[in-house]
Amino acid sequence: MENTIYGAYADNLPVILEDFSSRIKAENKKRKEETGYKLFEHFIARVKSTDSMEEKCIRKGLPVTTYSALKLIRDSIGMRIVCGFVDDIYQLVELIRSFDDCKIIAEKDYIQNAKPNGYRSYHLILEIETPYEDCLGNKPGKYFIEIQLRTIAQDSWASLEHQMKYKHDIKDPKRIVRELKRCADELASCDLTMQTIRNLIQDSSKEEE
Ligand code: GTP
Ligand code: MG
Repeated sequence: MENTIYGAYADNLPVILEDFSSRIKAENKKRKEETGYKLFEHFIARVKSTDSMEEKCIRKGLPVTTYSALKLIRDSIGMRIVCGFVDDIYQLVELIRSFDDCKIIAEKDYIQNAKPNGYRSYHLILEIETPYEDCLGNKPGKYFIEIQLRTIAQDSWASLEHQMKYKHDIKDPKRIVRELKRCADELASCDLTMQTIRNLIQDSSKEEE
């Protein structure tokens, strides 16, 4: 691992990611046992590759250094959690907020405030205290984790939109943008309906008890 932008800290990143992932998985299991519903459907987690991180430093006008990669850019560790229902996203955010070793230092609610193109998702930047040294020489050291939380519908839209973003030889781009936005709004309406259906089911099963 000589050529990594993360220098002496490179080996810590997958360990921190794995540890955080296990905790999230354990919470999902607990919730399922308690309520019969999962808190989320699945997640993906990754350490940003050296190539992507170098490219991002250059794009942001930052020096290509370990310090930039770990302290100025905050998505060296990233996680995307896909939930079944919109309410679960907010519950998961509050759960993460309650973790003693984590501090949410930035958050963007693109669900309440969708991007003009229709993109919806809840973004968090976590600062997590770890047993490992960080690049400032602190031990316990602090690392950042970027978390994106989305519904299944929001995730499918974002994946397809991301694929199509890079097609530049489109004849009528304005129309494409408009149609994508319309599709995002329709999916948001379905998410709302699915949430309502689940609430109805939960309310009626409470009445039976
Ligand atoms: P970075 O400089 O990349 O960290 O972006 P930012 O600070 O503007 O952050 P933002 O939270 O807006 O976006 C971060 C990530 O969210 C991106 O890297 C994408 O993964 C995702 N994202 C944001 N906007 C869109 C969008 O319009 N479409 C899709 N498909 N993904 C998006
Ligand atoms: Mg990012």
